[in-house]
Amino acid sequence: MGNAVASARITDVNLQQARPVLHVETRQADTQRILFVTSEIADLVKVGGLGDVSAALPRALAQHHDVRVLIPGYRQVLDSGHPIRVVGEVGGHAALPACRIGRMDLPDGLIVYVLLSPELYEREGGPYGDTQLRDWPDNHIRFARLGLAAAEIAATNAGMAWQPDLVHANDWPAGLAPAYMAWRGLKTPSVFTVHNLAYQGLCDLHCSPELGLPASASSPESMEFYGKLSFMKAGLAHASHITTVSRTYAREITSETFGCGLEGLLKHKAIRGQLSGITNGIDESWDPQHDAHLVAGFSPRDLAGKRANARYVEQLFALDADDGPLFAVVSRLVQQKGIDLTLQVAERIVAGGGRLAVIGRGEAELEQAMRELAARHPGRIGVQIGFNETDARRMYAGSDFLLMPSRFEPCGLSQMYAQRFGSLPIARRTGGLADTIEDGVSGFLFDQANADSYLEAISRALKVFRHPALLSAMRCQAMSAPLYWRQSARPYDQLYRDLIGVSKPVQLAMRRASR
Ligand code: ADP
Ligand code: GLC
Repeated sequence: MGNAVASARITDVNLQQARPVLHVETRQADTQRILFVTSEIADLVKVGGLGDVSAALPRALAQHHDVRVLIPGYRQVLDSGHPIRVVGEVGGHAALPACRIGRMDLPDGLIVYVLLSPELYEREGGPYGDTQLRDWPDNHIRFARLGLAAAEIAATNAGMAWQPDLVHANDWPAGLAPAYMAWRGLKTPSVFTVHNLAYQGLCDLHCSPELGLPASASSPESMEFYGKLSFMKAGLAHASHITTVSRTYAREITSETFGCGLEGLLKHKAIRGQLSGITNGIDESWDPQHDAHLVAGFSPRDLAGKRANARYVEQLFALDADDGPLFAVVSRLVQQKGIDLTLQVAERIVAGGGRLAVIGRGEAELEQAMRELAARHPGRIGVQIGFNETDARRMYAGSDFLLMPSRFEPCGLSQMYAQRFGSLPIARRTGGLADTIEDGVSGFLFDQANADSYLEAISRALKVFRHPALLSAMRCQAMSAPLYWRQSARPYDQLYRDLIGVSKPVQLAMRRASR
């Protein structure tokens, strides 16, 4: 039923007619064409911060470059209501089926290429798993298909009128894009961005024939990883350059503690200048005065709207409406996020007069532990197991403090959203949290992943809460912290130019020959 509705919005065009239209003549001399390959984009489908970055970064770069996004045609994408026109196709390869490529123009002009394969992508569930968050068993096929489609587009094998000067692949689902590009001998440079090294996209070595990999893929120099095939390692090993999403995390992942077994390779890349950290930003839609999701807008000078959002949160979570500090958790409920630490300190927050609202979903045991915690503290702790963008934004807006005791955090966006909305993050000094929170100025940082260290930061926060002038000064600092993509887009722009500059003569020669 969903398939039929979705398919009705897809229109075929004559691929031969589409082929000769080349943008190369009309674009400005320094505008580069970038294919941004991702498994989430917040406009259409979002699981976490990768979705936000994939929506924001291509747009932030649009004033400099022609950035287009490639994403699998999940049911949510097809059902989004935006028309899709077929503009290309890629042939089958080993067990990867042939696919059509659709083009979707989002209302603000962002162009999204949608990889159309009903058998791989049109399913009830999320990008990576079913409604119970269990991984799809054929994820290696689904995402190898994504990577190979990107390589085919770059190789001008997709019958499309547009070819990228550079392919920017994100996280393990796109990890095979730089690899297939390298195996095909393409000169087009590639950037591989690590958003989270802990998710590696592993499959058995014997899957190699299904993915049509060359024999060399199974070597440790390529994507072999402790007797498995790692999509993450494929991206790291074969991309022209690796970035990750904060400067601190770029350092951390070269160590054994954070490197997830890939620290040797990453250290080697860092020494050769092929690994850099570019801290994420947040997009301009995170505006406390004008965000349409909020119950009411507000600014540092007029916080009445912030209180209105707090009232909403109190009602939603059945919390007592008193003057105590309101703490929020907006998070995937997984080990990474230190949720167990919050479970340990929650009763102390309540004892200190605080209230706690939690929204999230993830590991079953953590979900259950959160439910039980709320049941023990009616009126003081409320928990919603689920995912809701509007409620999340109202929680950032309504809360006084956001809890983010992550064990590791490649960048983290929630702490930036919280700051923008005047909620002071209490976070562990790791990864992007260390880079985007100024301890005692725009939030509170603590060092050790244990309850004592966490409680020390919480007690500092409670002291500030009892001094309205101090609280308001910190809120002002947080709300005006310079965290927008404007800053973060510049280093990507420079990186693209540097990489394309190196291989430009070859690229241009090839293109002229094909006109
Ligand atoms: P990660 O990508 O590791 O989950 P980030 O902080 O980078 O962490 O991004 C998380 C994103 O997901 C933020 O946009 C946050 O608001 C959103 N988010 C997390 N959990 C929920 C939820 N339960 N409901 C709505 N949004 C959520
Ligand atoms: C990952 C990381 C998170 C980061 C996000 C976007 O999901 O866990 O820290 O902010 O990607 O880059």
